[in-house]
Amino acid sequence: MLRELDDIWERAQDAIKTAKSLQEIEAARVRFLGRKGELTQILRKMGSLSVEERPLVGQRANELKERFERALADRTAVLREQAISSRLEAEAIDVTLPGYPVMVGHRHPLNLIRAEIEEIFLGLGFSTAEGPEVELDYYNFEALNLPKDHPARDMQDTFFISDEILLRTHTSPVQVRTLERLAPDLPVKVIAAGKVYRRDDDATHCPMFHQVEGLAVDTDIRFSDLKGVLLAFAREMFGANTRMRFRPSYFPFTEPSAEVDISCFNCGGEGCRICKDTGWLEILGAGMVHPRVLAVSGYDPEKCRGFAFGMGIERIAMLKYGIRDMRLFFDNDLRFLSQF
Ligand code: DAH
Repeated sequence: MLRELDDIWERAQDAIKTAKSLQEIEAARVRFLGRKGELTQILRKMGSLSVEERPLVGQRANELKERFERALADRTAVLREQAISSRLEAEAIDVTLPGYPVMVGHRHPLNLIRAEIEEIFLGLGFSTAEGPEVELDYYNFEALNLPKDHPARDMQDTFFISDEILLRTHTSPVQVRTLERLAPDLPVKVIAAGKVYRRDDDATHCPMFHQVEGLAVDTDIRFSDLKGVLLAFAREMFGANTRMRFRPSYFPFTEPSAEVDISCFNCGGEGCRICKDTGWLEILGAGMVHPRVLAVSGYDPEKCRGFAFGMGIERIAMLKYGIRDMRLFFDNDLRFLSQF
C-alpha cells in the first residue's frame, strides 16, 4: 500500500505541474482529494490493514495529503497571479494614445441670425417680448383687425386645435399681448422672435418657420421713425451701403402698410442670381399700427401712434448665406449645419 501511495504522489505532482489554469487545478484536487479521489480511496481502505501496518501507512498518507494540499495552494497562487497579469495586459490603457475627439456643438444658423437681429434692435433701445405658439384666434386674427370672414385670413391658413385655438401664423399677436400687458404705459418698444406655422410646404416655405416682430408705440411716432429704425437695422445686418425702398402694401393691422426691400447686398443693385436680376430683396412687412389694434389693446389711438414690422428669419438667413432650399434648416444634416 505504501507503493501505491508513492505512485499516487507521482501522479498528483504531475497533475499539479501540468495544470495550466485554475479549472485544471480544481480538477486535480477533485481527482485526488475529492469524495472518490485516489488518495481518499486509499485512506478509506486503511481499515483492512494489520495493526502494524496501519500507523505507517496512515502517517505516510497524511503526510502526502498535506504536501499535496500545499503544492495545490502554491500552484493555485501562481496561476491566479498569471491570470490577473494577463488580464491586466489585455486591458492595459495606453495613456499615450490620442483621445477620442469631443464633438463641440454650436448654434443653429437660424439662432445665429435671430441673435444677430435681436442684438441690433436691443442696441436701438428695444427690449424682447414673447407670446405662445399655441394661440387664440382672437390674438392671431381678430384683435389684429382680421375678423372671422376676412379674406386676408386665406393667406395664413394654419393648424387649428379648435375653432378658437390655433398655431399662430405670425408673431403679430405678440403686439396685442404686449400692449394689453403694458397699457397705458408709454413708450412701448419691443421685438418678439419665435416660431410660427402655416399651411405651406415648398423650397421657400415650411409649415413651421420663424419670425421677428417689432413694435414701437409712443405719443409722437411717425412713419419716418419706422424708416429710420429699419434702415439702421438693414445697414447693420447687410452692410453700410445698403439702400432701402418701401412699396405700398396691405396688412389689416397696419395703415398705411408697406413691403420693404433692401438693395441687393450681393450685387449692390446691379442684378444677380440672388436678387433675380431685380437689384432688390424683399425682407419684411411693416406699417403704422392700425388705430383699431391700439384701441382693442387698451390704448387711445387719439393719444398715441405706433409702427410695427415683421420679418422671416429663414428668409434673411437664406439671403445672407445664399441658401436656396429652406428645408435644409430642418433636415438636421451636420454637413450643412456645421458650415455656419
Ligand atoms: N405678420 C405679417 C405676416 O406674417 C408681417 C407683418 C406685416 C408684421 C406688417 C407687421 C406688420 O408687424 O406691420 O405676413
